[in-house]
Amino acid sequence: MKHLDAHQIDEPFLLRILAPRPLAWVTTRDKLGAPNIAPFSAVMLIDSDPATLMLVVKRLSDGQRKSTARNILETGAFAINLPSPSELPALMRSASPGVRSADRFRSADVTLSPFEKIHVDRVADANCVLECQLVRHDLFADKADLFLGAILYAHAKHDGSDGPGAFIGALGYEWFVTSEGNVFVPQPYLASES
Ligand SMILES: Cc1cc2nc3c(=O)[nH]c(=O)nc-3n(C[C@H](O)[C@H](O)[C@H](O)COP(=O)(O)O)c2cc1C
Repeated sequence: MKHLDAHQIDEPFLLRILAPRPLAWVTTRDKLGAPNIAPFSAVMLIDSDPATLMLVVKRLSDGQRKSTARNILETGAFAINLPSPSELPALMRSASPGVRSADRFRSADVTLSPFEKIHVDRVADANCVLECQLVRHDLFADKADLFLGAILYAHAKHDGSDGPGAFIGALGYEWFVTSEGNVFVPQPYLASES
């Protein structure tokens, strides 16, 4: 048993304890319309009436915003794409920082589908996609951007009503739980970046 004071509680501990978290591909567009995709696990349901979720995007170590955060602030829109377990390796390949969005899409081998309500493409094979419009933005200690999104439209292959659907949950860094079992995906850069 560990007993930790506040100053001993670090990010690896919290990510492994507060788990699983839904793992999503967040798709956005910049103000010129160029699409972007990146994986995020800091996604949480806030309420269902009106349907609202929270996404937290951390700053890079030099204090700059990640493209996802910049795009949401520019356009006010983002889509939460919940992948199927078979998409986990592609999702991990799409996390590399500083990679041009076009190369991300190529390396992840993702096909995009048109949106319904927001001007953001969605991942065609995702298990479920939630189209969100930004309703509130906050800063956390100059380290992260907190976005509340109103869920304007949902596309769902499985909604879980006849048993657990297809899902991926993040368990901290390289471990994931999926509807098909626990999976380890080595990703060396993660421990230092996120
Ligand atoms: C499994 C996984 C989960 C991640 N979760 C988050 C997260 O919750 N918040 C965050 O800021 N970055 C997270 N990242 C890191 C981003 O995906 C990474 O910084 C990416 O390069 C951001 O891309 P962008 O600059 O195009 O937005 C995660 C990466 C992986 C692989």
